[in-house]
Amino acid sequence: MKAHLLEGNESLSAEQLTAEGIFAAVLPTEEQSYRAEVDRIKGERGYIQEDIVELSPDTPGLDAICAKFLDEHHHDEDEVRFVLSGEGIFDIRDSQDRYMRVKVEQGDMIVVPAGRHHRFLLTESKAIRCVRLFKDPSGWVAHYR
Ligand SMILES: [Fe+2]
Repeated sequence: MKAHLLEGNESLSAEQLTAEGIFAAVLPTEEQSYRAEVDRIKGERGYIQEDIVELSPDTPGLDAICAKFLDEHHHDEDEVRFVLSGEGIFDIRDSQDRYMRVKVEQGDMIVVPAGRHHRFLLTESKAIRCVRLFKDPSGWVAHYR
C-alpha cells in the first residue's frame, strides 16, 4: 500500500495513515491462508457479513459504476476492502480535509472509517477483486458530499 497527499505529493507512512484512523494490513490472498486472519479481524471489529466484489473491463456499466465511486461520499459504517487481485485508489480526507491518495494492491486490506469522506478510482487496468466486510450491509449506503 502506497500513500501520499494528493496535493504536493508528500508521501505518507503507515504510521501517518494509522494516526489518521485508517486501518491497513497485508494478508495472503489464498483463502485457506487468509481465512483465519479475516475471521479474527471480523471478530475484533464487529464485521458479521462478507462478500466478494469484482470489477473488470467486462463489467456491464463499468463507467457508470466508477462514476458513482468517484463522487465524494461517506458511509454510516466502515468501508472494508481486502484486495484479492487487481488494484485501486482510495482518496480519503485527512483531519485537515486534504485528500490522502492510497493505492491498494493484491494482499492489501484497508478500512475507511465510518463517516470519513472519500472516493474510489480504478487504475488503468480497470480491474479489482475484493473481499468486502460489513456490520450491516443494508446500512451501507453512500452519502454524497
Ligand atoms: Fe465508499
